[in-house]
Amino acid sequence: MSLLLEGASKLQAIRWVRPRLDILDQLLLPHASTYIDIRTSADGHRAIATMQTRGAPAIAIVAALSLAAELLGSYEKVSAMGAEAAAALIEQRLDYLGTSRPTAVNLFDAITKLKAVVGRALASGHSVVDAYVDAAEAMLAADVADNQNIGRFGAEFIERHGGPLKVLTHCNTGALATAGHGTALGIIRSLHGSGELEHVFFTETRPYNQGARLTSYELLVEGIPATMVCDSAVSALLRSDPSIRAIVVGADRVARNGDTANKIGTYQLAIAAKFHGRDFIVAAPTTSIDLEMESGKGIVIEERGMDEVLVTEGFAADSVVDGQLERAAVRVAPVGVRAWNPSFDVTPAGLITAVVTEKGVFVKSEGAEEFNLLESLHK
Ligand code: MRU
Repeated sequence: MSLLLEGASKLQAIRWVRPRLDILDQLLLPHASTYIDIRTSADGHRAIATMQTRGAPAIAIVAALSLAAELLGSYEKVSAMGAEAAAALIEQRLDYLGTSRPTAVNLFDAITKLKAVVGRALASGHSVVDAYVDAAEAMLAADVADNQNIGRFGAEFIERHGGPLKVLTHCNTGALATAGHGTALGIIRSLHGSGELEHVFFTETRPYNQGARLTSYELLVEGIPATMVCDSAVSALLRSDPSIRAIVVGADRVARNGDTANKIGTYQLAIAAKFHGRDFIVAAPTTSIDLEMESGKGIVIEERGMDEVLVTEGFAADSVVDGQLERAAVRVAPVGVRAWNPSFDVTPAGLITAVVTEKGVFVKSEGAEEFNLLESLHK
């Protein structure tokens, strides 16, 4: 078993070559680089629900492309159903994909947009399927471009402090969580690319360990100088190192007023940043902004099984059995203990310095505790 994989420099969570979708199994990273063939929306749903693929933008794109793969796999059959029946089938499958995970709005944004596309293409069954597949493919391409712009805008915003810069990040928001480059990790990549980054600290991100397993891996592959800390070490770190200028995180859903749902633990990082006078920056494509959600109060927070907290999973050194990695589970808490495992929390807008999107950097008006993202996006 090796911690550094061959082919790692070509880190790609989503591989789409029409009509084939393969996704990197993130449950096996960083120990094995295994791609899973996704042929149907049921495969896509399973991969999202079990977190073989994760990260708000990646979830939406895998959902969209899993249905594209299914439609291309039965192209003549679905097209022969006629326009309205094909559109109805697509809508039914999209609704099903929407039941995979509740918090990241990107999935629901994609579903709404894809339904609108098929609704406009009702000339024939073929045109419905073609329009759907084209639109799903366009989402993949748009996400990479959006992330590159987020990286550029965010890096410029942080560079106003003057380099060389130290920053901290949480969870995994990089190439693995998106179609490529990443959001918060995209900003860090851009800072590194322009020579302005001195060091990045990242949290392990319990209980799923997106930081320890995935962000660590991306930073290692890119050669970005980095140090991992326990989630609970951040306040102590900020106090001991005043040169950490900013905490940069991603988002699963940003409400109209800027309240932001992101990986559990984000809220406490924002409190620590405020207390220590550091920037707290949310990096997200506009597909993560839910303009219909007035504030964070309405955001549904996914709760996952308590075993993710009570049992530590990993891979033992001898866990390759018949060429396959076998997960090893170690129970830490005594049998009988219960756990609460919310996957996300909501950071109030008042604690957020800026929301960085592909359209630019949004800040609050002087003295305001909330953002006006509706106005910012339509300026
Ligand atoms: O449970 P996950 O791993 O899907 O949660 C991921 C996060 O919370 C990310 O910070 C968020 O999706 C932004 S990814 C660009």
